[in-house]
Amino acid sequence: MKNYYDVIIIGSGVAGLHTALKLSQGIDALVLSKDYAWECNTFYAQGGVAVAKDTADVTLHVADTLAAGAGHCDEDAVNLLCSMGKTVIDSFIQEGFVFDTDSDGNLLYTQEAAHSTNRILHASGDATGRAIHHFLMEKLKFPILYNTQVTDLLIDEGVCYGVKVYHANKKFNLYAKKVVIASGGVGSLYAYHTNARTISADMHGICLRHGIALRDMEMMQFHPTVFVKSDAVRKQLLSEALRGEGAMIVDSDGKRFLFDYDSRGELSPRNLVSQAIFDHAQKTKKEIFLDLRSFDCEHFKKRFPSIYFNMKNVGYDLPQTLVPISPAFHYAMGGIKTDLDGKIAGVADLYAIGEVACTGVHGANRLASNSLLEGFVFSTRVASNIEETLGDKKRVVFAQNNEKLIRDGDKLLKNELRAIMWQDAGIVREKKRLKKALNRVEEMLELQIGKLIGLRLLASRAIIQSALAREHSLGAHYILGEEKI
Ligand code: FAD
Ligand code: SIN
Repeated sequence: MKNYYDVIIIGSGVAGLHTALKLSQGIDALVLSKDYAWECNTFYAQGGVAVAKDTADVTLHVADTLAAGAGHCDEDAVNLLCSMGKTVIDSFIQEGFVFDTDSDGNLLYTQEAAHSTNRILHASGDATGRAIHHFLMEKLKFPILYNTQVTDLLIDEGVCYGVKVYHANKKFNLYAKKVVIASGGVGSLYAYHTNARTISADMHGICLRHGIALRDMEMMQFHPTVFVKSDAVRKQLLSEALRGEGAMIVDSDGKRFLFDYDSRGELSPRNLVSQAIFDHAQKTKKEIFLDLRSFDCEHFKKRFPSIYFNMKNVGYDLPQTLVPISPAFHYAMGGIKTDLDGKIAGVADLYAIGEVACTGVHGANRLASNSLLEGFVFSTRVASNIEETLGDKKRVVFAQNNEKLIRDGDKLLKNELRAIMWQDAGIVREKKRLKKALNRVEEMLELQIGKLIGLRLLASRAIIQSALAREHSLGAHYILGEEKI
């Protein structure tokens, strides 16, 4: 197998595959995927893609994104996301992608929390991510190497030359002129999450080992409506679009308590809804439910076929049956710090995009359905930067090393870490619990452990340290006992 390419793309979600779509045919690129291509968060995305409907709506989309981000967004990144959004999505539609339309062929836009208007495009009802992923895979013109885990970046004197991978029980190096990290978020660090099993912060850990800066790592988003009462590792998300279209959150007495916290009730930003659910459940000891009974049964099955089917499989007949819900980890606003072209300061020829990256576009709390859009927009930027700058490059060969990736006992530590992150660095934070968590993570890092658990520990430590450094509640970072939630 050849081992030198123009471009290596790490990850087969929207960020990685859309970069591939935007690169020209003549470029020699390779996509790496840790598992099957579809085992990524993109594939499981439900609600849709937020996009300004017209020029007038760009201003509103910017305002909504900034407001949800709690004043912590990078305004240039937000302006770019919202103003480029329509062009990029129009181009995707011209490529042949079909979003849901009415019977006259007009695009259907739905509502989600904290959007001041209906601007969420969706596809295949509630299977937007799956439809996008299938389409991007069909369009993929470059080879893809499955079951291939990147275990290191090949960096020398501030230049990236490729990656170390583990594939089919072998470790080897793959070289490229440009490397794009599109490896997604950090879901598997938490006991309860909605993410694909491949999403475990490997690249965050690798970057930390190379001294590459992460940003906003305390900003971790917890989705308010998740069915967590199952043994599945990935917990079933109940899309925000359900609330956008009339679903209510009630306690076991039928009380719609969200209005006690924010006048927007079910349509408040998701950090507020998650924090309110947590607070109300703690104070009243009552169970919390999603009430979908305002939906017409036949309409529900057509509009939300995947949720209908998945919940039926576990004994819930929607929309008639109330579903017990809890917040669960969902999305990382923080990540590898990049500029607006996806470039990573201090390391030439290395980019990060999508959920793994942090341009500051989501601030302290991501507005619903802005993530797929981020993947589309910033991958377009990265692809054009690569096209502009791809030239000759000297070759540097890196030796293999004998680092053990996995050791006995790592699995136990992995589960312990998940519990710590959920309980002590989760939806509600307290300084003393964060400190306790930090101490234990530091202890674990000193043990004889495999490299892969080490990467998870480094990323977890970054989250905890950032949470400790932020003194007051802001957006998704909520400190117990502070007045404002
Ligand atoms: P991903 O799609 O997660 O892809 C990451 C890729 O990197 C995977 O292929 C993985 O295998 C690979 N990878 C990881 N580590 C390595 C490694 N070490 N080596 C090699 N490969 C690696 N956002 C919206 O905007 N709208 C929605 O409706 C929406 N719904 C969601 C529903 C769910 C259940 C979830 C979990 C998320 C949802 N999100 C939604 C968020 C959104 O789906 C993700 O943020 C987005 O898809 C991330 O895309 P990505 O390409 O950055 O990463
Ligand atoms: C959802 O459908 O609720 C998820 C939307 C998102 O994460 O943006």
